[in-house]
Amino acid sequence: MATNRTLTIIKPDAVANGNAGNILQKITDAGFKIIAMKYTHLTATQAGKFYAVHNARPFYGELVQFMTSGAVIPAILEKENAVEDFRKLIGATNPANAADGTIRKMYAESVERNAVHGSDSDENAMIEGSFFFSELERF
Ligand code: CMP
Repeated sequence: MATNRTLTIIKPDAVANGNAGNILQKITDAGFKIIAMKYTHLTATQAGKFYAVHNARPFYGELVQFMTSGAVIPAILEKENAVEDFRKLIGATNPANAADGTIRKMYAESVERNAVHGSDSDENAMIEGSFFFSELERF
């Protein structure tokens, strides 16, 4: 069932480079409403759990290291067709393949330091939203 919500994380590269404000502006300009948001710093346990689906991949250790290297800004976004529209807005995982005007094309440095996360399905949007916002049922 489509939930019209998705979960994003503004990642440590984008926060450290001072791009969080511009990225949030692009997100709201594209019609997404911010339902919940926080500024936080993940522990290795949290990052490892969030990306557990990738734990057999060769980049898993580095990914966890990167995601704990600085502050992050997770947020729940609402819009009709949120998951798909947000993935279009951020562009391909690897910024080298991302379309012009997408957030990753503008702000990502590499496939790992790729500025933002976006849920890949409605089911994962709910799981990932609950991961960061235990009070989700109130929103
Ligand atoms: P994200 O959309 O957050 O989901 C999984 C993350 O793993 C992805 O963004 C990248 O940051 C990272 N990732 C995916 N593929 C690679 C790769 N080949 N090398 C390094 N990191 C990767």
